[in-house]
Amino acid sequence: MNDILTRYTSEVEATIQTILGETTPFLQGVVRYHFGWVDQTFQPSRQGRGKMLRPTLHLLVFEALTGGYQAALPVAAALEMIHNFSLLHDDIEDDGRERRGQATAWTIWGMPRVLNVGDFLFTMAFKAIYQLDHKHFSSEQILAVAKLMAEASVALTEGQDLDINFEHLTAVSPDMYFNMVSKKTGALIEAAILAGARLGTTDETTIKNYHEFAHHLGIAFQIQDDILGIWGDTAKTGKSVKDDLRQKKKTLPVIYTLSQAKGAQAKQLADCYANTEPLTDVQIEFVRGCLDASKAQAYTRHMAMQYRDQAFTALHRIKLANEAQTALETIAKYLVDREK
Ligand code: IPE
Ligand code: IPE
Ligand code: MG
Ligand code: MG
Repeated sequence: MNDILTRYTSEVEATIQTILGETTPFLQGVVRYHFGWVDQTFQPSRQGRGKMLRPTLHLLVFEALTGGYQAALPVAAALEMIHNFSLLHDDIEDDGRERRGQATAWTIWGMPRVLNVGDFLFTMAFKAIYQLDHKHFSSEQILAVAKLMAEASVALTEGQDLDINFEHLTAVSPDMYFNMVSKKTGALIEAAILAGARLGTTDETTIKNYHEFAHHLGIAFQIQDDILGIWGDTAKTGKSVKDDLRQKKKTLPVIYTLSQAKGAQAKQLADCYANTEPLTDVQIEFVRGCLDASKAQAYTRHMAMQYRDQAFTALHRIKLANEAQTALETIAKYLVDREK
């Protein structure tokens, strides 16, 4: 699995470096720290890298369809830049203090400056897309990809708004949850796969099948993120297992438990979620007990597998037999079993 997720890393990173180009040392430094290329003093480091999921999905789809990947590197870079912009802002929005095993940027350099670094990274992502070469792609294709990225970014911010607003709601239904995660996380994963398909083929049936694959995969991916946010091993995920509960995030396990609790436990649980204050450590432990009692982990895993299986069904409709297509299937399997 690691081989698949690292196969394009050095070239995607080199493409990002070129796009970032010349800018002030501070903006460069914080971006590089967040990518895990330098430490807090901006000295070279290899701590705190992300999985590179979105660029890998994009390039694998493009490679499965065309046999090559290099022409699509600017889009891969743009996807990773948009993803990381969203994480810089997400850690502020979620009061997240640890990411990829490192202190989050805003805890080191403060919210105002890190918000601005996020804006810088987001803007630069669009510069990347316009570096797609006309030797390989038509203007229509390049515009279509830019449109996909813009639409995904809008959906991502809509999803983030729902996610944040749900902290203060108790009656969040599974349907509300699936809508929220398909936007906050699914949209960019869909754009990654769809952009690869649109650049790689004009066959609308193939594009439709990749789109369906992406839609289900994105939801399965976020469900597993919810599981790791409660029951993960911090040493592997690099994230806290308290943050989601403390922030009253309406993750799928929590939604399920709120709907299953009975009697005195239901009353105490409702009390915990009744106000807008974060949960205390004692309340977090109580909620953990309720999650265990309702077997929320088993339910959530089952839902992740259902979405993964729907992703497989769509992927198998695409009759391509090559190494990149097989790698896509391997990734889809791994995403709901991953520990980080
Ligand atoms: C984390 O994404 C945020 C979500 C959208 C769930 P990843 O798990 O892909 O983060 P990195 O880039 O590998 O750290
Ligand atoms: C994922 O948010 C979606 C975005 C960052 C756009 P989460 O808040 O669920 O992700 P983690 O768990 O902090 O990585
Ligand atoms: Mg969040
Ligand atoms: Mg978060």
